[in-house]
Order: sequence, then C-alpha cells, then structure tokens
Amino acid sequence: MTSKKSINVGIIGFGTVGAGTARILIENADIIERRMGLPVRLKTISDLDVKRDRGIKLGSTKLTTDAKEIINDPEIDVVVELIGGYKPAKEFILAAIANKKHVVTANKALLAVHGEEIYAAAEKNGVTVGYEASVAGGIPILKSLKEGLAANRIESIYGIVNGTCNYILTAMTNEGRAFGDVLKEAQAKGYAEADPTFDIEGIDSAHKLSILTMLAFGTPVKFEDVYTEGISKITPIDIEFAKDLGCKIKLLAITKMANGEVEARVHPTMIPESFPIATVDGVFNALFVKGDAVGNTLFYGRGAGDMPTGSAVVADIMDIGRDIVSGCVNRMPVASFRKRQQLKVRKMDDITSSYYLRFAAIDKPGVLSKISGVLGKNNISIESVIQKGRQAAEAVPLVMMSHEALERDVRKALAEIDTMDCVGGPTVVIRMEGNGKA
Ligand code: NDP
Ligand code: HSE
Repeated sequence: MTSKKSINVGIIGFGTVGAGTARILIENADIIERRMGLPVRLKTISDLDVKRDRGIKLGSTKLTTDAKEIINDPEIDVVVELIGGYKPAKEFILAAIANKKHVVTANKALLAVHGEEIYAAAEKNGVTVGYEASVAGGIPILKSLKEGLAANRIESIYGIVNGTCNYILTAMTNEGRAFGDVLKEAQAKGYAEADPTFDIEGIDSAHKLSILTMLAFGTPVKFEDVYTEGISKITPIDIEFAKDLGCKIKLLAITKMANGEVEARVHPTMIPESFPIATVDGVFNALFVKGDAVGNTLFYGRGAGDMPTGSAVVADIMDIGRDIVSGCVNRMPVASFRKRQQLKVRKMDDITSSYYLRFAAIDKPGVLSKISGVLGKNNISIESVIQKGRQAAEAVPLVMMSHEALERDVRKALAEIDTMDCVGGPTVVIRMEGNGKA
C-alpha cells in the first residue's frame, strides 16, 4: 500500500477534451476517491492560452503556458497529454516517461504512428501509458479487449469509429443532404478533427483501427499497412441504390484474422439495414466484436466530445491510481500482451468480399453482356443486377452485386471494363458485408 495522500495529475492541453477531463475530475471527485481509495489532485494545467475562460472552477489548480512545469514536477504522478498531433506531443510524452511519470493520452494519430516507441519507453521506465480515449471516445472498448475479452481469440471487429463520418452518412441517408453541407455542420459542432481530411478520408478511423488490431491480436501494426478509403466519393445515387437493396452505407473499420494473417481495412461498406451496426446513426460509434468463446458482442456510445472522451481519460487516470494505491505497476502490459507476435497484415489484393459495382454504362444493346463477360472471365460471379432509366448514347447507372470475389480479380476486371467504349467513366466500387442480405 502507498503512503501517498493523493494521485497528482497535470494536464497538457486545455481544449475540448482537456476541459472535459478537468470538469469530471472536479465534479466527480467524491466518487473517484471512493472508487480509487485516494483523491486525485489536479495540480497543474498547461495550455498556450491560459486567459480564456473554459467555464470550469479550477480552485487551487495552477495554470501555466509551459508544459515542462508539469513534465518536470517531481510531485506529479500522471501527465495527461491532450494537445493532439505529433509535435510536440511525442516529445512531451517521451520526456514525461523518462521522468518516470505515467502518461494518459487520447492521441490516436500519435499512437498509430509512434505507438511502439512510446510503449517500449514506458515498459523500459516502469511506467504505464493509458490510451482508452484514443478509440471510440467514451466506449470502454480497449479495456474490454484487454480485460473483459482476454480469454478469447478475437475473430473480428467491425467498428464505426469516426463520429464525423457517421454523422455525415446519416444525414445524407436520412435527409438527402449533400456531403459538403453536412461536413460544415459537423465541423461547427466540434466533431471533426482540426484537419477534417483525417475524418472524411478514413485516416482517423485507420489510426483507431491500428490500435484496435494491435490489442485484438497482440501484434504491432504499421499504420501504413492499414488500407484506408474515405467517404468523400460517396454520392446520393449510391445511397439511394443502397436503400433499394435494403442496405446502408457506413464507414467501417474492419479487422479480422484470416488464415494466420490479419486484415486491417477502413472503407465505406454496404451492410444490410437489419445488422445491429447499421442502426447506429449520427455521431455515435459502435463496435461489433466477435470472440471465439463469447460469440458476438456489441459496444455502443459516444465516440467524441468533451465529457465522453474525458470519461475515458479519467478512467485511465484511475487505473494508474489504483496501481499506485496497491503498490504495483504495469499489471497490464502497455500493449496488453506480455508475449507479442509479429503477424502479417494481409494485402488488400488478397482479401475477399462481395461487391457493389456501379458502372456508367452507355445504354446500347450488348453492354450488359460485355461487362458481365469481363467479370466472368475474372472469376467474378454476379448475384443481381439493377438498371434504372434509359438514355440512349448517355451513361446510365448499371448496378451489379457480386458474390464473394477476390479483390485482385475485381481490380483486374475493372481496369479492363473502365476502358471499354460502352462505359462512360470509372466504376464505383463499394464492398459489401453480409452480402447485402439480412
Ligand atoms: P483541442 O484543439 O480542443 O485542444 C488542444 C489544446 O491544446 C488547445 O487548447 C491548444 O491550444 C493546446 N495546445 C496546443 N499546443 C500546446 C502546447 N505546446 N502546450 C500546451 N497546450 C497546447 O483538441 P481536442 O481536445 O479536441 O483533442 C485533444 C486530443 O484528443 C487529440 O489528440 C484528439 O485527437 C483527441 N480526441 C479528441 C476527441 C474530441 O472529441 N475532441 C475525441 C477523442 C480523442 P490552442 O488552441 O491555442 O492551439
Ligand atoms: N474526429 C473524431 C470523430 C473525434 O469524428 O470521431 C473522435 O476521435
């Protein structure tokens, strides 16, 4: 047991999540102390701007513009990094670890790219790094993978882990609104990252997926090995076709084990409306996790925002506090597995899926047989076809749904089809899960 009177915390970054974290530490101080056994003392907060009113009564907490006052303070046990980005966040975290301080961060972009270096530094220095808030905000999915589901071989995870994209796709589906218009609204509401490209191009989801994959399978994952495709090319016409098929389009982060290799991919995915994850709308996140012992599990909640994300940050602080109270450290290895393995991430060419293919077909006799001929030649079997409207000599949408096919074969077939005279533009490809069937 410790002789300490409190767990002393410093927060670097008093923005959205920093303010939520401070509010929870202050407003829920009683329940936190009862659960942990010691109070948390929010000793110092650092931000570039210490004048702005964040609407929080800080009491004796010191405000400073110099993060080093936290990193080098011998009294501080836990340094909470909430500034985001790569620089100087990485330097701050590594300096705190070198000073034997525990770290809590919500910085998925940093962990996806430099996580291995940070985890190794923490293990070497006998401190921990908590990063629950880095994936799906307030949903305790990392803790569930590390602890609640620890007895399972994880088979697959299907996640809606970017609130901005889900918000945009939901508004496009339910209100028929245009992509750009809804994106502006998501930015105004504070859901989007500082650079919304990270959200809409799937990069933020891929950051989160690399962390999920690492924890699910106990393997380091290079961020560049995660296949990433965003939602910026999704058009109302595809959303309408999806509705006709009884499906919704969601940006899914998918990881699964396939013959000893790991699949890690982020892309718009057509799923049947009856799938539980298809009902997850707006800014909400959800993860559908399958383990060999537990079977299917579903996690749902807010993936962003000051209080939900602060909830995860404070839970990490409390885990560290509990370890300090009971005089142990790293009961849970920083990267979850005590013995890790290096698994290969499957190349996108080698995955199989069923596909929604929307051709810009010139509506002339024979076009259907020409396209299906190329698909057949490349081992792609068609399950159903939809054609709407007729405009001779102009491109009309011709939609085909394939059975399971190899991605390499699909790419090869489309490379040929997209150069044919009877096709008026590049084919739209959306992968399908559940083969579009309920
Ligand atoms: P904000 O931009 O709202 O807050 C970051 C704060 O850090 C700003 O006040 C910024 O000041 C300050 N800051 C920047 N550089 C320094 C520095 N060198 N020293 C001290 N303070 C500094 O970001 P969020 O709170 O939204 O995000 C923080 C982290 O949490 C990011 O990693 C993000 O990806 C992650 N996250 C965010 C979620 C959300 O819902 N917002 C959800 C899940 C994770 P200034 O504004 O003056 O630059
Ligand atoms: N921009 C992110 C999102 C914030 O929209 O989900 C939470 O990580």
